[in-house]
Order: sequence, then C-alpha cells, then structure tokens
Amino acid sequence: MAKKLWGGRFKKRTHPGFERFSSSLGVDCALAPFDLQASKAHAAALGRAGVISRASAGRIVRALDGIRKDLPKLAGSFGRRDIEDIHSLVEAELVRRVGEDAKRLHAGRSRNDQVNVATRLYCKTHLLAVENEISRLQAVIVRSAKAHQGIVVAGMTHLQKAMPILWSHWLLCYVEALERSKTVLADTRKRLDILTLGSGALAGTGLAIDREAVRRELGFASVSPNSLDAVGSRDFVSETVYALAHLGVNFSRIAEDFMILQIEEMGWLNLPEELCTGSSMMPQKKNADFLELARGASSILIGNCTALFTLQKGLPSSYNRDLQWDKEPLFRSFGLVEEMLPIFAVLFKGTKVRADRAHRSIANDQLAATDLAEALVTAGVPFRDAHERVGKLVQAAEAAGGSLREVPSAQAALILGSQVKNWKTVLDPALSVNRKRTTGSTRPSEVARQIARWEKILNAFF
Ligand code: ARG
Repeated sequence: MAKKLWGGRFKKRTHPGFERFSSSLGVDCALAPFDLQASKAHAAALGRAGVISRASAGRIVRALDGIRKDLPKLAGSFGRRDIEDIHSLVEAELVRRVGEDAKRLHAGRSRNDQVNVATRLYCKTHLLAVENEISRLQAVIVRSAKAHQGIVVAGMTHLQKAMPILWSHWLLCYVEALERSKTVLADTRKRLDILTLGSGALAGTGLAIDREAVRRELGFASVSPNSLDAVGSRDFVSETVYALAHLGVNFSRIAEDFMILQIEEMGWLNLPEELCTGSSMMPQKKNADFLELARGASSILIGNCTALFTLQKGLPSSYNRDLQWDKEPLFRSFGLVEEMLPIFAVLFKGTKVRADRAHRSIANDQLAATDLAEALVTAGVPFRDAHERVGKLVQAAEAAGGSLREVPSAQAALILGSQVKNWKTVLDPALSVNRKRTTGSTRPSEVARQIARWEKILNAFF
C-alpha cells in the first residue's frame, strides 16, 4: 500500500472501500504531462527562492523530465487504487527516483492549487488543438463547397422544401456555425489562461515564490489575484465543457442534415462507405451509423455541462473535494470531440452529391412561388396582394396536378392579374438562385464571395 501524502496525523488506515472510491488516478492520469510541467516550474521557483538548493531543484527538474519520458511505462500504475491521484503518483515516483530531494518539492503548494493549474494547462492545450482541428474541418467543407458550386438543391424550412439554394451555400452554413463554436472555445481558452499555482491550499504561502516568474515559465497570461478564488474555481471547467457542447450541438445538426439528405426519397447525398455499417441480418443495408453516433454524442456533451454546473452549485468558497469529479466529464467531452472532428472531415471529403437527385429535388416549380410573388412586387403589386395571388395560383396548381405552370393560362391570368406577362419564365427553379440580390444570399456570385472569404481566413489550413 502506498504511503499517504497526509498520513502523519492518522492512526488508522483508510477503509479499503473508501480508498478505492477516493482515488481518481484512473481518470486524472490524463493530467500527468501537465502536472509534471507545473511541478518543474514550481521546483525552479523553490530553487530561486532559496527554499531548496539550486542543485536540488536541478535534480528534481531532471527527474521530472525523466518521468515524462517514462510515462508509458508508468501507465501500469494508473490502475492502482491505493494511490489517491496523479499528483500523489508523480510525487511517489519522484521520491523513488531522487530520494530525499523529492520530499522538498511540495513546499509552498497544495494539491488544491496543483490540480487547478494542471487542469488549466490541460484545457489550454486541448482547446487550442480542437480549435485548429475545427479550422481544418472548415477548410475541407469550403473545398467541397467550391467543388459543388453549380449544384442547386431544395432548401428547406420546417423540413419542407422551400426555395432553391446552392448546395455550396448549404455547406457554407456549417462553416459559419463551426466558426462560432471556435470563437467560444477560443474565448474560453483566453479566460482560463491564469496561473493559479502559488495559491497554496487556500491562503497562499509564506515561502518567497516569485509567481510572476512561474507565470512566464508556464506561459500563462496572468497570475490569479485571489488565492481563495483560485483554488475553489472550476467555472473554467464548466465553461470549457459548455464550449465543447456548443460544438457538439452543431455536430448534431450536421449529422441530422446528412442523415435526412442521404434518404433515397429525400436527398442527394451518397455517404462514404467507410463511415457506414451494415446489418447482421439484412444484407443490402448501408446504415449511417457515424451520423447517428455523432448526433447521440451531443447528449453526452450536454449532459456533461449539466454535471459540471450541478457539481458547483451550492459549494462553499475555497477547495472542496467534490471538485475531483470535474475531470471525468471534462476529459470525456474532449475525448468525444477530438475523436469526432477528423471523422467529420472524412464525411465531408467522402460524401458524393448525386446530381440527378439534386436536380429532382427542385423539380416542383412551386419552389419558385416566392420568385413569382417578388416578380409581381417588382411590377408594382403590394407584397401582401402578390402573396395572396400566388397562393391562389398554388391552390389551382394543386387541383391541376401540383405544378404552377400547368394551371391553364386564362385561369392563371385571372388569378395573377395583368402586371406580369411572362410569368412562366420566372418558374424555373434552377434560375431562382440567380435572382437573389442580397449580401449573404444564395446568389452564385455571393456564394463565390463567401468561398473566397473563407479561403482567405482559413488560408493556413488548405
Ligand atoms: N485529486 C484532487 C482533485 O482532483 C486534488 C486533491 C486535493 N485533495 C485534498 N484532499 N485537498 O481535486
């Protein structure tokens, strides 16, 4: 059984069931590289403050580097439940390697500031990696949008075919949404970029540690101004998990769109086989399992937000052991997102557009009903009247088989009035996109402008 870091005042040994329950090593081992990094900076700070000799500090730093290299070998210990957490494991390993000197390292710090700083370093690294991976995914989507510029499809509202749009326009809406997730992640990263080490258990330390130097060494933007707040704060974890859920919800939308658009009767997408699975019974099946799993994963990401907020609700100020439970949802959220991001890139790269089906999606000229109403408006008819007249034309079309152009000319002229003569020329849904005028619209030149804008922004990721 490992020696407890706090064993001195206890006569009885910890209950084995509680010891197992208490240990977070199996989870927080993911903090190991960051704990080692912060420990090195702390050792150096103790050396500079004269708390330990420079030589001791040097030995400790070298041993921590050695542990960093040997982490794969240490992984065998991560399953141990007699060791409370990764901080205890690292210290025990350090003692094993350098003996006496190692016992000097914990001066002026507590696991309360130690875990906080390691978690912040972990978040910074992983947030930046996720942000970059989002940019890479955006670049893949932009490339696909560029390649599909000529394809017009049925845009929908309420899941009903609404107006023709460019498929590229649809793809670019994902790039916008992902950009918002990325900025939420980046803002979170900037807000949590604070050195909390040096706060001790809650009140700071009587040892002359230069926190500013530690901040520089660890690359934080600032030093926490209040030790009590520093050790008790985990709002940066809830915010991180929220930012990941923000992305997860966008993922779930993409997954649902692709799910719908690969249905034979509905859409024009042919998903890459690599992301589909078959059925154990029905030999013909090609199921979009990645999309379903990704859509489902957002529920875990959202649930982790709830877990984190609930964990902190009503907690008194300062460190409380409850906070140990923050790690599982945090790591799980990162794990899911980091796993899904490159697969989404495969999805966008490998999905083929079936031009015939895209074309079929806009076959019904009712999709140009708004164009017809706008043509009436241009000819001087108030929009409400135009809407009413075209609505009546739709009614007549429904009776005549569904197509607006099939309404007998005399009847149509009566319904629409005399202002628009060549009304049937307005009804080609494929031309509808060219009539759009506004910035950000689906007009091909506008979409091309969007593509050019993103190519510039994401320049480094192509
Ligand atoms: N492993 C703990 C955590 O994740 C840090 C240890 C603090 N423990 C303590 N008894 N003060 O929050």
